[in-house]
Amino acid sequence: PDYTVTVDPDRTGPSINDRMYGVFFEDINLAADGGIYAELLRNRSFEFLPVDNPAYTGLTGWTTGAEGGGSGTATTVDDNARLNERNRTYLRLALASPDGGRYGVTNAGFHTGIALTAGARYDFSVWARTDAPDGTPLAVTLHDPNGQPLGGALTRTVRGDTWIRYAGTLTATRTTDAARLSVRAGGTGTLRLDMVSLFPRDTFKGRPNGLRRDLAEKVAALKPGFVRFPGGCLVNTGSHHGYDAASGWPRARSYQWKETVGPVETRATNANFWGYNQSYGLGYYEYLQFAEDIGAMPLPVVPALVTGCGQNRATHDEELLRRHIQDTLDLIEFATGPVTSTWGGLRAEMGHPAPFRLTHLAVGNEENLPDEFFANFVRFRSAIEAAYPGITVISNSGPDDAGVTFDRLWERNRATGVPMVDEHYYNSPTWFLQHNRRYDDYDRAGPKVFLGEYASQDNKLFNSLAEAAYMTGLERNADVVRLASYAPLLANVDEVQWRPDLIWFDNDESWGSTSYQVQKLFMNNVGDRVVPSRATGKVVRPQPITGAIGLSTWATSARYDDVRVTAPDGTVLFEDDFSTGADGWTPLANRGAWSVVDGGYVQSDTAAQDTLVKAAEIATSDYDLTVRATKLAG
Ligand code: AHR
Repeated sequence: PDYTVTVDPDRTGPSINDRMYGVFFEDINLAADGGIYAELLRNRSFEFLPVDNPAYTGLTGWTTGAEGGGSGTATTVDDNARLNERNRTYLRLALASPDGGRYGVTNAGFHTGIALTAGARYDFSVWARTDAPDGTPLAVTLHDPNGQPLGGALTRTVRGDTWIRYAGTLTATRTTDAARLSVRAGGTGTLRLDMVSLFPRDTFKGRPNGLRRDLAEKVAALKPGFVRFPGGCLVNTGSHHGYDAASGWPRARSYQWKETVGPVETRATNANFWGYNQSYGLGYYEYLQFAEDIGAMPLPVVPALVTGCGQNRATHDEELLRRHIQDTLDLIEFATGPVTSTWGGLRAEMGHPAPFRLTHLAVGNEENLPDEFFANFVRFRSAIEAAYPGITVISNSGPDDAGVTFDRLWERNRATGVPMVDEHYYNSPTWFLQHNRRYDDYDRAGPKVFLGEYASQDNKLFNSLAEAAYMTGLERNADVVRLASYAPLLANVDEVQWRPDLIWFDNDESWGSTSYQVQKLFMNNVGDRVVPSRATGKVVRPQPITGAIGLSTWATSARYDDVRVTAPDGTVLFEDDFSTGADGWTPLANRGAWSVVDGGYVQSDTAAQDTLVKAAEIATSDYDLTVRATKLAG
């Protein structure tokens, strides 16, 4: 069809926030440990707990072994000999090799193993103590799964029964994604080890305790205006009540930023909402540093103590609430306070005397009990605004489930006069195409919108196109939508809790999805202001599908064969008989029968089905199509 687009550059539309498009980082899909945090060893501090996953133990990621006739036993222990109060469990080796040989442990890294590049250097370190009067000899080696060496060995002698850090560098002799690191000790006595670490020297911007370069560079290439972190459901779920009665130590707890700063060996490990244990090696300092390194505004999210994410609990513990409010004030001091302040001083000690440029902070993530959330939120907000009037405090609206809770939270947000509200939604591509005008009617005098999480469900080109189309609607309403971030950002192919995701990776490779390219296009080309425009021509209106299958039928999980989708002018957009073509239809693929679930979604992931999903999505939105198919069953 012929369209005319009329653009009037002299008319002024809303200005667009330079920082409008950003990224949302959450430790989901192994995004941090085993992901962007460059540490190569899994469970380096022997802290894993069986929360959510009974298979986890203090020795997850490790195996024991001996060489040269050595022997011993290995136990993980949390007792008074611990490294410190947060990093509690350590490895105790009872060594029994009086006549030579060695005994110890081997770490297999994440999934396939440790990724090494030939010629690259790797920094090893360990905290250790021994009761052997003459010290304990330690040998550290990189090798393949069969024990073949992959780098020079490192030897150290551990002396004295107090914790000391031992370190050295290993150079890889081969490129692999399946290396192992072994730490073996000789002699007799009790050797205690903790924080066994192996880091590539080559991190993003060469930062110590830094980020995996390829992943950080992919995020940086987006040129994001902001980084929202550290979650998501990860932030506000878990136990707010701190200490688990049985262990005396919190097991799965909400994100407490103070556990994530200071020397890495004093940071906690947490069994997080996404079913695995995360170290806090990547903590608040590293997030703030990363945001600064890529020219983005840091945007932390703190819990308001009303869990969403399916848990829907609120705290009524006044003391705990007061502590979290104070923690939030301390967090702002950590990011922006002078070096003479307590928390600004810690930031300086960690290597950043100058303040970070923190201007926005979100309180609550999908905390969708309106009364309870607002009771807490207003107290956070007034404390923050009183102490730091320059900080914009962002409220939340729960997940947009098109339900009462979302509306009630929005009513309260409006009534309370909050400056900005965080919205989240994950919907079908059709939804995104149909809701391009969502923000056209938002109250211009009301709170601004921070679209903190959105994505069209699935990782296909059509999803990305739908997102791009939708983003034109965000931008047209740039006076209301001030910030927007796709979610989630990162996914390890071997451990996926959520899809779609923007950047995928394994131990040594990474790649962006088509949505990554869309985000990059928008982020790299943020306009100054909207120029009003008008399109005229034949307008295609959404029509019901005609033919053998109607929309309601598509929405079942029945099985079909012989599918053809035809446009009004007779053009066949898609057809597939899912057989060898004996009936005269063009066989696009031989997939057998397939099933369609929920509004045109196909369960498995094949090229022909991609096309069908696309056809079905179009059919349910903008075109008058004929869809024919033979129903097999269901
Ligand atoms: O982005 C994945 C999850 O989706 C986030 O943790 C949560 O906020 C939302 O429900």
